[in-house]
Amino acid sequence: MVTQPVKTLIAGNWKMNGLAASLDQVEAVANAIAEEGADRCNVALCLPAPLIAPAAAKTASSALTLGGQDCHAAQSGAHTGDTSAEMLADAGATYVIVGHSERRADHGETDGDISAKVEGAFRAGLTPIICVGETETERRAGHAIEVVEGQLAASIPGDATGRAFVVAYEPVWAIGTGLTPTNDDIAEMHTTIRRRLVERFGDHGAATPILYGGSMKPANAAEIMGVDEVNGGLVGGASLKAEDFLAIVRAA
Ligand code: PGA
Repeated sequence: MVTQPVKTLIAGNWKMNGLAASLDQVEAVANAIAEEGADRCNVALCLPAPLIAPAAAKTASSALTLGGQDCHAAQSGAHTGDTSAEMLADAGATYVIVGHSERRADHGETDGDISAKVEGAFRAGLTPIICVGETETERRAGHAIEVVEGQLAASIPGDATGRAFVVAYEPVWAIGTGLTPTNDDIAEMHTTIRRRLVERFGDHGAATPILYGGSMKPANAAEIMGVDEVNGGLVGGASLKAEDFLAIVRAA
């Protein structure tokens, strides 16, 4: 369907894991990327907010980029405990994950909230990684495609044309479970997402990376990334150890 090449992105999502001592792992990834080159793909680690600035100091000479895992829609203000996209950018982030299913579930984030956060990311010059994905119940009921289409339509703001953004398809039931969809199911979802992006954003939609996320690991990364319209991965558990994460980067 798409003729335009899309540059692969491998993004790690550390979730609520990692202390200052874990910066060793970030450094190991950065050094390996600097040595091996990152021409084939973009590589990012989305870290807990307190680790972004110290990680940025250690990765300045590497093509490894950093990201946050959520942002508030507003630039600043009376929002105790929240972090704005501007703060993440200031700390050294290039990306921010928005609408992860754990935020949707734990914090009741709606598609509208997520769209506003995406606007915040654009305003701050960050590239949002916009997450969509169905639950196990929704897939069993045969609604996976329509659920994801609905999330996609409402989580990406209208003015995203020409703005850098990434979509991550993460079936909720595959996250942290060791389960993955079949290649056919991944292909069906990713080609549907591509079709919707092209309908809405034209060439820009054709060039937008669509990542797969959910139990991606060194053993299955190459196969999943070989599926139609899969342009990389959003990697949780397997991004915590430099060795595993680098194995996935090398499989890209
Ligand atoms: P997982 O998490 O790789 O541990 O399944 C992926 C994610 O939640 O982004």
